Amino acid sequence: MILVTGGAGFIGSNFVLEWLAQSDEPVVNLDALTYAGNLDNLRSIADDRRHIFVHGNIGDATLVADLLSRHKPRAIINLAAESHVDRSIHGPEDFIQTNILGSFRLLEAVRAYWSGLPDKSDFRFLHVSTDEVFGTLGPDDPAFSEDTSYQPNSPYSASKAASDHLVRAYFHTYGLPVLTTNCSNNYGPLHFPEKLIPLVIHNALNGRPLPIYGDGQQIRDWLYVKDHCSAIRRVLQAGKPGETYNIGGWNERANLDVVNMLCSVLDELQPRVDGKRYSDQIAFVTDRPGHDRRYAIDARKIEAELGWRPAETFESGIRKTVRWYLDNADWVENVASGSYRDWIEKQYA
Ligand code: NAD
Ligand code: TYD
Repeated sequence: MILVTGGAGFIGSNFVLEWLAQSDEPVVNLDALTYAGNLDNLRSIADDRRHIFVHGNIGDATLVADLLSRHKPRAIINLAAESHVDRSIHGPEDFIQTNILGSFRLLEAVRAYWSGLPDKSDFRFLHVSTDEVFGTLGPDDPAFSEDTSYQPNSPYSASKAASDHLVRAYFHTYGLPVLTTNCSNNYGPLHFPEKLIPLVIHNALNGRPLPIYGDGQQIRDWLYVKDHCSAIRRVLQAGKPGETYNIGGWNERANLDVVNMLCSVLDELQPRVDGKRYSDQIAFVTDRPGHDRRYAIDARKIEAELGWRPAETFESGIRKTVRWYLDNADWVENVASGSYRDWIEKQYA
């Protein structure tokens, strides 16, 4: 048994679906179902007895203690978080509550549970983090390695950095067997349409502007979500407690290039009815405050020590992603409208 937190979100739901496709080990899935958590993402395993969904908060110490003593997981994968930089700029409070206080309360409950285990060294707490904790790179700087110092610039990345530090401290102080992963930007199926790639696909298909912040020359390092999931599984299996692992696919792209690529794949797979090109919808808008210019992951450690490599190229991953959004227009409508929530809650009542 493993416990996944945030398993109704983008990466978490992909992780749970992949996990159950690859193994018979059951999953307890603890998720608060914020705007970003959708049970619709888990519809295909609604009747799977290996999946136990629990609607609750990682900061609820009583609930977490109860779940741990009842299900006795051998590992926890902590994916629950507030995850959107723009939201953290408009309102950082939820980020502090979940990413810092929630992670702290989760760690405390886990420490109490772990200290009573007969074989403590077999347990793992895997904390999923981001490359954004390292701050921003200049055009000629080397990519972020595991030794790069933390310099978070947004409330989101600062809150993630705080949780990474707590996880590190629980290893050094208490000996809790933790693993931390710092991954680059993900994309793929089940991505809430507020982040760049799903937002652009959604807006393009609905005839709306495709907003590019500033000059669009900011660089992100993109990884297909299922490759992130395979890396997490690999780190869980073979990572050394107390170590951190950077995860990325060597895929640096300027935002404008990403948007143009999405437009040309859409032009091919679902041309506009008026014969024009989707790139005509591109609109340059005011830049994000404090916008990090470039992220890049040096993934040599996880490649060399754990033998992990991504399966998708950016081209193949983007094609799969666009195809998924074209085939799942109902999913996008549901999560975007919010009306899915009453319906889906009834499915699990
Ligand atoms: P997401 O916003 O899509 O999902 C987050 C999930 O956590 C949601 O299901 C939400 O309901 C749940 N949640 C939020 N607060 C909670 C709480 N207090 N208790 C329980 N559940 C709660 O995020 P995501 O993109 O899937 O990211 C998952 C994790 O991976 C985050 O920790 C994020 O920092 C990290 N990460 C994301 C990316 C990326 O590109 N999306 C890259 C690297 C790392
Ligand atoms: P985003 O998907 O929000 O991820 P993050 O901020 O965590 O990297 O944004 C990816 C990049 O795209 C980032 O440089 C901001 C930019 N961006 C836009 O230009 N327009 C948009 O509408 C959004 C949402 C993001």
